[in-house]
Amino acid sequence: MLHSEKLQIYDMLKKASDSFYGFGSPSFPPERPDFIDDPSPDESGKTQAPPPPEIEIAESGALTDLARQVVSCSRCGLCAQRRNAVPGMGVTEPFVLVVGEGPGEQEDARGLPFVGPAGQLLDKMLAAISLYRNANCFITNIVKCRPPMNRTPTPEEAAACMPFLRAQVKILKPKAILAAGTTAIKTLLNTKTGIMRLHGKLFEFDGIPLLATYHPSLLLRYSDYKRAAWEDLKIFRAKLLEINPEYASIKNAPFGFPEGGA
Ligand code: URA
Repeated sequence: MLHSEKLQIYDMLKKASDSFYGFGSPSFPPERPDFIDDPSPDESGKTQAPPPPEIEIAESGALTDLARQVVSCSRCGLCAQRRNAVPGMGVTEPFVLVVGEGPGEQEDARGLPFVGPAGQLLDKMLAAISLYRNANCFITNIVKCRPPMNRTPTPEEAAACMPFLRAQVKILKPKAILAAGTTAIKTLLNTKTGIMRLHGKLFEFDGIPLLATYHPSLLLRYSDYKRAAWEDLKIFRAKLLEINPEYASIKNAPFGFPEGGA
């Protein structure tokens, strides 16, 4: 059976389950199969494209220069419908780099990452472990332009945009990376395994400790996953304290997962 057929069947069953038991029935696995595995390459019939060229980093003003390259980028088809490219935002020497999937409608309108409802939840999740976009984080995405209808970016689009993320990592030199969601972790680890199996585990990206948790958009739809996300964040926080025991003193933030997750 084709991956797309599996997704159609899943969505039909989920709709039936929701209307029978009420929305978000915990008895139905709330993960679509595309959160777990990618379609096998022989289903897509495509061969692997060569990796896109790396980005040249200017000696001075590197971050601004990179942002300029992002906003004029046409490496993939996503540039055609964007209103604004979204390079990222945060401090220039971040402790943590947060990587999401790609801009949504509000991000596309404003040119800033995670400024819609998912962004509000992300900010609360970060604050719960003493991380703040205006103090010790930089927030960006795997793809810097909005995929039409907020669809998942294709592996080709993610690959085309990766040199920007690699350049951001080189410039920003974060001490740790938090990957939000399945696209982020699959792309960063170059794996087909989804978030279900990878969340809450420590990996490395270019030698930098990396942990993945559920994407805040998924948590908004399926609040059952908040508890697991909180467990992931506690593991991440422990790692951050190991890297810098002083990091949490940046603000006297309340410690606890927002909205009933703890
Ligand atoms: N979702 C993402 O993955 N990134 C954003 O910037 C906004 C929503």
